[in-house]
This record gives sequence, structure tokens and C-alpha cells, in this order.
Amino acid sequence: MLENIISHSLEVAKVALFISIELNKKGQTIDLGLVEAASLLHDLTKTECLQTKDDHAQTGSQQLKRMGYERVGEVVAQHIWLGKEGDPSCVSEEEIVNYADKRVMHDRIVPLEERFNDLKARYGLNQKAMDYLERLQKEVYGIENKILSILQIPPDDFQRLFVTKDGGFKKLIFSK
Ligand SMILES: [Fe+2]
Repeated sequence: MLENIISHSLEVAKVALFISIELNKKGQTIDLGLVEAASLLHDLTKTECLQTKDDHAQTGSQQLKRMGYERVGEVVAQHIWLGKEGDPSCVSEEEIVNYADKRVMHDRIVPLEERFNDLKARYGLNQKAMDYLERLQKEVYGIENKILSILQIPPDDFQRLFVTKDGGFKKLIFSK
């Protein structure tokens, strides 16, 4: 894996675990080990896919399943698109990793709006690409709304989620 993809994945894992722990305090039953593994491995095959142009969510998933990590493979398969409606009262590991990936731009935690503005500037080169990003954005905001309603915190606080300089997911806080 490229160094920058490793840094990105480490940051996604911090965000995903932080949100999962907060959700579990509210009665959700998110598998933290699964979330951590899938976050760290979500871009497992992205480096080679930059050359092959294959869908790295699918090839990464297939590789993990071949190695016997069925559930991790399932979560990785849905890290770009969920592709299905989730349970409205229950947050899945798939939704957590998908959402955390959208909140980390390179290795920096950002609000969804900033991440999508960047994606649109880089990839929204024609109407078809823009429509794709709009659909993706809608799906991700759906996950965010569900997380917010369970955590019962104001959207602005959640958007300012950040990690302190000395690292560690335990140091993740909601800024005031
Ligand atoms: Fe990815």
C-alpha cells in the first residue's frame, strides 16, 4: 500500500472506532474488532487498482474473503457504496466504515461538505460524474443523519469532530 493510503486508513480507523464506541454507549451493538479491521483494510487493493482501474472495493473484498475473512470482506465491499437501505434504528459496521471513510480527506478529518466539495472539484468533470457524486452524497448524509439521531448531538458539533495532535482515537473529541 502507498504510504498516503496507510495514513488515510489509520485515520479512518480512529474515526470509525470513536463513532462506534459512542454509538455502543447508546445501546448499539457494533463489533469494534470488525470495524477496526475493515477500516484498516478498506483500501487494501487500492494501490494496484490505480494501475488496473479495477473497483478496489470489490477486489479488496474478494481478497479478504479468499483469505477467510468473510465479514471483513463484506464491510470492505460496501465502503464506497452501501447500495442498499440500512435498518433505520440500527447502525451496521458497513455504514460506520463507509461514513468514516467520507469524513477523512487524505489523512485529515473534515466535515462531509468539505470532503464532497473536494471530490466534486477533482472528479465531477461532467454531468454524469456530478450526478454520481450527488447520489453518493445523499447516501452518506443518510448515514450521518441516522448516527446523529442516535447520538443526539447537534450536527455542528459532529461536523467539527477532530483528533488532537497527540493522536489516539481515545483523544477524538467533539469540539465546542
Ligand atoms: Fe477506498
